[in-house]
Amino acid sequence: MLSVVSPLAVLALALSASAAETLRFVTYNLRYDSRPNNVSVAESLAALPDPLAPVDYYAQSGEQPWSLRRHYITERVLSEGAVVFSLQEGLVRQINDLTELLGSGWDYVGVGRNDGKTAGEYAAIFYRKDTVTLRSVDYFWLSNTPFEPSRYPGAGSIRICTAAKFQTRGGTAFTLLNTHLDEQSDDQRRLAGSMMLMRARYEAAKSGEPVLITGDFNSPPIGTDSGAYEIVTGQIPPIAVNETFAAKFAVNDDQLPDFKLLDIRAEAPRDQVGRNYATYTAWGKPTDTSAWTRIDFVFGGSNGGWKAGQYKVETSLTDDGVLASDHRPVFADVTL
Ligand SMILES: *[C@@H]1O[C@H](CO)[C@@H](O)[C@H](O)[C@H]1NC(C)=O
Ligand SMILES: *[C@@H]1O[C@H](CO)[C@@H](O)[C@H](O)[C@H]1NC(C)=O
Repeated sequence: MLSVVSPLAVLALALSASAAETLRFVTYNLRYDSRPNNVSVAESLAALPDPLAPVDYYAQSGEQPWSLRRHYITERVLSEGAVVFSLQEGLVRQINDLTELLGSGWDYVGVGRNDGKTAGEYAAIFYRKDTVTLRSVDYFWLSNTPFEPSRYPGAGSIRICTAAKFQTRGGTAFTLLNTHLDEQSDDQRRLAGSMMLMRARYEAAKSGEPVLITGDFNSPPIGTDSGAYEIVTGQIPPIAVNETFAAKFAVNDDQLPDFKLLDIRAEAPRDQVGRNYATYTAWGKPTDTSAWTRIDFVFGGSNGGWKAGQYKVETSLTDDGVLASDHRPVFADVTL
């Protein structure tokens, strides 16, 4: 018998194949604006040096004001072609500056963690409006009272998670959780990891859609204080979380029972993983590696629906010695 593939079936296949789209994600801890100097974006752009002038190599060192650093951040994000930009430590004035520098093609979701409005640092997500559409967003606090701005006992700061749902041009919907875990309390980080794992599993089970997590975990993947990483990646069990949160994001036991997050650095094709490892490099001299560590991550849910491509940690250092941040940006290409 002659087997004939109908032209419509071919068309449907071609359409579904073309619907998959590779998006470049970046997660970047900006370092909060610790020394505001009231220099406007326009003023700092006007002060950019002549691009043809030789650079005075490593003339600068240490932490520079945000008003100088911000353009290095956006120049890097834009030149690398990122379309979804998760950030940490952004104060509202930094969010406003990024809005101005990135331009009208971008929008963001995020709130200040101290009041759910504009006070304190944002774990914001900027995104290119021509590439992804925002479907919904909500926020929860990584504490014992997740639905109100609150600090976990013993934590250094109030900690928040931004939970956004997007849709690609190809029609793929996905959830992205972005966060910044506590620098002092591993108990907070374990709670936070448990809450994000629960929320991610809920989204995966409910919708069957891909789920991604970006964040500064303020803790490494191995060794002491790696509780949050070990919990989200399923190496150790999660801990109990607030019962209201657990009820809201409950799934049946038989729904994705082994759900976990996969570290995209390990999921990317080996030859497409950049050589840089550390994501936190502090403000020291380029040769001072004493504080360097890997604490910023991109994860994908084990329910799938995504494929990792290139993954790389880029430097924040430029020839003039300016460090755009004490962290480096982590770029990950994900096909959805
Ligand atoms: C900050 O800049 C604005 C606009 O240039 C100016 O009106 C204001 O006085 C400045 N504030 C401080 C504290 O320097
Ligand atoms: C759980 O969280 C809710 C919402 O933030 C809060 O009202 C409730 O008191 C919390 N439960 C406990 C035992 O703290």
